[in-house]
Amino acid sequence: MPAPNPAASEFLQTRRSRPAKTLQPPVPDADALRPLLVAAARTPDHGKLEPWRFIVIEKTAMARLSQVAADRGTALGLDAEQISKGRSQFDQGHLAVAVIEVQKPSPKIPALEQTYSAGAVCLALLNAALAAGWGANWLSGWPSHDRGFMEQALGLSPAERIAGFIHIGTETAIPPERPRPDPDAITSWVSL
Ligand SMILES: Cc1cc2nc3c(=O)[nH]c(=O)nc-3n(C[C@H](O)[C@H](O)[C@H](O)COP(=O)(O)O)c2cc1C
Repeated sequence: MPAPNPAASEFLQTRRSRPAKTLQPPVPDADALRPLLVAAARTPDHGKLEPWRFIVIEKTAMARLSQVAADRGTALGLDAEQISKGRSQFDQGHLAVAVIEVQKPSPKIPALEQTYSAGAVCLALLNAALAAGWGANWLSGWPSHDRGFMEQALGLSPAERIAGFIHIGTETAIPPERPRPDPDAITSWVSL
């Protein structure tokens, strides 16, 4: 049996994100970010395919990403409000890690399992950041699903896509608690 870790259990039962728009500098530097990426890369991965990688988006790159989102929104025929919403995380962001799902050809491991693993990396990075005392938030938005944005903003290849943007910074406000599901209402037990 592994030794109990009450602090980790308590963290996992009470953890909560901090809205990205409330995050401010300072943000983690490369030394502070590295252990968070180590934790995130320690994620279950069937067949050890490592179907993910990280792109760290610094403040200095945010304006360019916002402009690519604006250009893509116009090309897609989105209205001004949708374009503004798609740009907002880059207009307001100070540091974000794009978790990139990298599909690896495999006769054994289904593509969907690689997608699940990439999602798990997002949560692991979010939790690692929160556990280290940073505010953090997992965002998507329409640009994260737009192939043109992926290629123009981040240079992704056809086998790659954005699993999530994990914004990390210093919290300025603690959000009101979000209602959480009652585990009894979503759990059934099979005993026969
Ligand atoms: C895949 C994914 C994408 C998300 N994208 C957004 C988003 O674009 N904007 C947003 O406000 N919340 C988004 N969320 C929700 C927040 O990340 C998060 O679930 C919410 O703030 C509560 O988080 P907590 O349970 O850690 O407190 C997304 C969540 C997931 C899992």
